[in-house]
Amino acid sequence: MRSLLFVPGDSRRKLDKALGSGADALLIDLEDSVALDAKAEARSVTAGFLEEAKGLAARPRLYVRVNGLTTGLTDADLDGVMGGGPDGIVLPKAVGGADAAHLGAKLAVREAEFGLEDGATRILAIATENALGVFALGTFAGASHRLMGLAWGGEDLSADLGAEVNRGENGLYTEPYRLARSLTLLGAAAAGVDAIDAVYTNFRDMDGLAAECREARRDGFVAKMAIHPAQVPVINEAFTPSEEAVAKAEAVVAAFRENPGAGVVGIGGEMLDRPHLVRAERLLARAGRT
Ligand code: COA
Ligand code: MG
Repeated sequence: MRSLLFVPGDSRRKLDKALGSGADALLIDLEDSVALDAKAEARSVTAGFLEEAKGLAARPRLYVRVNGLTTGLTDADLDGVMGGGPDGIVLPKAVGGADAAHLGAKLAVREAEFGLEDGATRILAIATENALGVFALGTFAGASHRLMGLAWGGEDLSADLGAEVNRGENGLYTEPYRLARSLTLLGAAAAGVDAIDAVYTNFRDMDGLAAECREARRDGFVAKMAIHPAQVPVINEAFTPSEEAVAKAEAVVAAFRENPGAGVVGIGGEMLDRPHLVRAERLLARAGRT
């Protein structure tokens, strides 16, 4: 998955539009983009959409963002949408592996109730929305077999911190958010799941988005969340491994294959050891070449 597009769960118009956006996944939102008195309506719009969209031959993966575990709304959200068999649930305001495990237990109950395959529903945790969550980023390993990724976000975190802004005058995230971003990468790697970059909220600034995508890919993020369909092609392009990168990775894999048992090989004057092989294999998997 390269691009994950947020769509308000109470807007059938946007949901239908999002299907044709080219996003690898839709994050159908029942949380921040839906007003409190529209939650019930959003659950029923979302359930109806899931039932129709699940049957399409070619479709993005369909995740639903529920309200966080401390809101008292999570169970009603799950009861409202799990009948539609979403591919996954997005957990906002997650505080570490304990929250992922807690959601996992709730999902197991609904899978049984709705006749869904046990364990089929994946979890994507948005893991840096408050300070507690940032401190718990190292606790996701082994928490839930459903966990597929950790995403970070700087908007809710800035509210929790009481910050005036989260970007400096140069447009780049300030230090607390750089730290949260870095710890998300480390936490995701420690848990063996995908690291997913935050939304870029200025949805008319494609150059800024592209620059942030390049930085994210450079550092090890494999995907980025989006809030507007126009962001999807930019994100897809950035996170699709280039032909050059694929060729380089294939050369690394071939070099190790030709030297079985070697711990280290040389290609073009560069020393390559096992971590390079792991990185090359991951890139090829992302490019669909394995
Ligand atoms: N998914 C699907 N369609 C979307 C969309 C989205 N996330 N964002 C915009 N569109 C549609 C609009 O409905 C519009 O379609 P229409 O002309 O057929 O009505 C078209 O794309 C162009 O939209 P535009 O006029 O550029 O933006 P807008 O002012 O209508 O919407 C937002 C701006 C921010 C309200 C909208 O992008 C949005 O709802 N984003 C998602 C918000 C969200 O889920 N936030 C929670 C996570 S941070
Ligand atoms: Mg939020």
